[in-house]
Amino acid sequence: MENKKHFRIAVIPGDGIGKEVVNEGLRVVEHLADTSNKFSFESDYFPWGCQYYLDHGRMMAENGLEEIKNHDAIYFGAVGYPTVPDHISLWGLRIAICQGFDQWANIRPVEFLPGIQSKLNHPNKEDLNWILVRENTEGEYSGIGGRNFTGRGNRKEVAVQSSIFTEEGCERVIRHAFQLALKRKRKKVTSVTKSNAQQYGMVLWDEVFERVSKEYPEVETDQWLVDAMAAQFVLHPEELEVVVASNLLADILSDLGSALAGSLGIAASANLNPEGRFPSMFESVHGSAPDIAGKGIANPIGTIGSAALMLEHLGLPDEAKMINEAIRATTEDGVVTADIGGENTTKEVTDSIISHLSKMYTNV
Ligand code: NAI
Ligand code: MG
Repeated sequence: MENKKHFRIAVIPGDGIGKEVVNEGLRVVEHLADTSNKFSFESDYFPWGCQYYLDHGRMMAENGLEEIKNHDAIYFGAVGYPTVPDHISLWGLRIAICQGFDQWANIRPVEFLPGIQSKLNHPNKEDLNWILVRENTEGEYSGIGGRNFTGRGNRKEVAVQSSIFTEEGCERVIRHAFQLALKRKRKKVTSVTKSNAQQYGMVLWDEVFERVSKEYPEVETDQWLVDAMAAQFVLHPEELEVVVASNLLADILSDLGSALAGSLGIAASANLNPEGRFPSMFESVHGSAPDIAGKGIANPIGTIGSAALMLEHLGLPDEAKMINEAIRATTEDGVVTADIGGENTTKEVTDSIISHLSKMYTNV
């Protein structure tokens, strides 16, 4: 038998439902580790988040990045709670990790699952799936700017928020999208900008897209402005394969995609440092959902799907596939949480996914 792999996972549950869904994802991974016997893992917990901020005045430990930089992967819940301003919590933890570890490719698959009442009226809904590739370290979330001029008197303050588009940053994420497209049945990359209005950074993005696309003659391409692309998501989603966009635009489009597929709660994501200089981070697309936190009804599918992306990244594609199949079998059975029209709890959904995984092993 091949050597059993061992992984060290840094677990950051964060806030709100992040804490609930991360535990469910780990239950699934533990079950797979026990039954497959192909890998083992240890979880190191880091209690960073809004409560940590209230206790320590910072969202993560001062040397936090140092503490997790040698782990094989980071498994992340969500960050944000009404007790701390959102821009402080997001920048102090999630963006600090994405930028600090140069996790420049954020991969967000949009999957239509069986048995879910999706918002889209489409004849072949269950065949729909596409991947959003989000530039994840620069663009509109570069964090460059400032506020000034309060001294001028009441209501005279000025804020500057700059976007940074570097040729290197555009090129690496666009190239990543083309590489992903090569693995799909229909080889197609769609680039999304707002370069008619954003005439510097996004025109540079367009030029890089055109240049890189010439190296992939077998890949179909198209280029859209984001407003029209929002409509295309709803009207012709069958045209989408791999969609690459800047940090802000892909952030918005990914919530739209997962909502169309049924709920924000089902969307998984991977924040990759593809060179492997730093660990990559796996988290659902949704936030900490304070409105339903603590009720045991959060949909765990997005975070469990993110565990599948983590296993794939760690070289276990078969196990990743099994998780995704177990998720599909569970929604097909109608074992779903309230956000997608069901009555099941977070735990019941996970239990069902685990029981489908067990069946797969007995069938082998
Ligand atoms: P959100 O994604 O937390 O919630 C939006 C809506 O979707 C809510 O009604 C919520 O109940 C529902 N929802 C989200 N995930 C769900 C799940 N798994 N199951 C069932 N329903 C679910 O976005 P919102 O309300 O804008 O932000 C809440 C907090 O999360 C804020 O502090 C925000 O900054 C933070 N946030 C953090 C992110 C991250 O850690 N990656 C991403 C987005 C927001
Ligand atoms: Mg978002």
